Amino acid sequence: MTKPDTSLISAPVWDIFVRCFHWSLVALFVTAVISGEVGGNAIVWHMRCGYAILTLVTFRLIWGFVGGEYARFTSFLTSPGKTIAFAKSMFGKGHDYVVGHNPLGGWMVLALLLTLATQATLGLFTNDEIATTGPLAQYVSEATSIRVTGIHHILGKVLLVFVFLHVAAVLFHLFVKKENLIRAMFTGKKSLPSELAREAEGARRASTPLGLAVFVLVIALVTVIVNWPVWFK
Ligand code: HEM
Ligand code: HEM
Repeated sequence: MTKPDTSLISAPVWDIFVRCFHWSLVALFVTAVISGEVGGNAIVWHMRCGYAILTLVTFRLIWGFVGGEYARFTSFLTSPGKTIAFAKSMFGKGHDYVVGHNPLGGWMVLALLLTLATQATLGLFTNDEIATTGPLAQYVSEATSIRVTGIHHILGKVLLVFVFLHVAAVLFHLFVKKENLIRAMFTGKKSLPSELAREAEGARRASTPLGLAVFVLVIALVTVIVNWPVWFK
């Protein structure tokens, strides 16, 4: 972290996989929430979005170990001490620039990813007690499936709170700290003080073949899980 600098330089931070992951997730999440609330025939689309979210989030969790420098968990999960210190300084004057996710944002990212993964996994075991069951509901008792559906409803609300906090934090950076993190999530480039920009320029790049291979493998894995009862009766 570095104190404000007047001469900011644009440097690459978010690899293409992180960016595609993020904006696809946003579109799918919005569609999943709307179709989940609407219910009825829309639930088919809800389930499809859920499978896609499961794929994306599983990919992102693996990418957190093998992706570009700033996609890695080791680059943005810091100690509670550092996180608290950052949180305190965030509400002060001036601005601490960070190349990747800031310490507070980093923990929020992990919370979002784990809650989304749990929500999508629970979805596989749901039973709406009318006409829809998740593909794996038959492997648990009906009582368990109904209990899981109750948790699925609650986690849906928890996720909405997390997303609200997440978007509020991004807007806080935009309007109060005058740092446009949204543009960076589209272009992959952040405006940084020269020292941090140099650090970002020299950081480990993402491997495109590896990213594609992991993505294809995760698609295959989720496809097998979702179709398990049909293919392996
Ligand atoms: C239009 C609404 C949204 C905007 C403008 C937005 C913006 C952003 C921005 C700017 C970042 C990077 C933050 C940073 O620089 O540290 C980010 C990261 C992230 N956002 Fe969002 N976001 C939105 C909605 C969502 C939703 C709905 C979800 C999940 C349901 C979500 C999940 C995430 C995750 C998981 C990351 C971490 C990205 C990564 O490291 O792969 N966002 N978002
Ligand atoms: C991360 C992905 C998911 C999110 C964010 C999500 C979110 C939601 C939300 C917000 C609702 C409406 C709850 C309410 O009305 O209070 C819902 C309902 C439902 N979801 Fe999901 N869901 C996801 C994944 C899945 C998956 C993968 C499946 C099944 C394959 C699934 C099956 C269902 C069913 C069957 C309902 C209707 C339950 C009922 O009416 O009692 N969901 N979900």
